Amino acid sequence: MLNPMTKAKEISKRRSGFVVREFRITDYDALIKLWKGAGLPHKPRGRDRKKDISREITHVNAVFLVAEKEGILIGSAFGTHDGRKGWINRVAVLPDFRRSGIAAQLVREVEKRLNDAGIDIIACLIEEWNKESVAFFERLGYKRHNDIFYFTKRRYPDI
Ligand SMILES: CC(C)(COP(=O)(O)OP(=O)(O)OC[C@H]1O[C@@H](n2cnc3c(N)ncnc32)[C@H](O)[C@@H]1OP(=O)(O)O)[C@@H](O)C(=O)NCCC(=O)NCCS
Repeated sequence: MLNPMTKAKEISKRRSGFVVREFRITDYDALIKLWKGAGLPHKPRGRDRKKDISREITHVNAVFLVAEKEGILIGSAFGTHDGRKGWINRVAVLPDFRRSGIAAQLVREVEKRLNDAGIDIIACLIEEWNKESVAFFERLGYKRHNDIFYFTKRRYPDI
């Protein structure tokens, strides 16, 4: 379980004029706009539907963070864990704000929350074409595994 004390309080680190804080469901439309603007592949008719994200954020093992600047969402990073392993998802920063450490700050905060919850291994899935993200996660110390195949079983194609 994520530390409720940490989870409850808003992080108000200010750096370069942006704030990192918990995602709220009222941010949903702004979040989708951010993901579109960032070119992040997402599933608006699947697991990124508002009702699915509303459910996920209430889960004790979820930490969904956003970076906000002057009322605009400019970055996101979602973390979850299953008690065994942590996962980082939906890391995105608007193009105009890249290469200033925003994604790194978001991901490090998610990692800290997961570590505080006793999770010592954190994973992420990156598509092969996504060289920027590969470079980003390698820079943050993630090890690439070329010998693992990703298998999924989907109830329907859009999920
Ligand atoms: C990947 C992404 C989130 C990085 O966001 P960002 O805020 O620019 O990243 P940061 O500034 O925190 O980068 C930290 C370090 O990662 C590495 N890095 C980040 N982007 C990089 C790029 N395009 N090329 C090479 N290295 C990169 C650098 O080492 C960088 O440090 P530096 O700027 O001091 O050299 C952003 O490019 C993005 O939104 N991409 C599209 C969405 C996406 O595909 N998300 C990932 C899904 S898995």
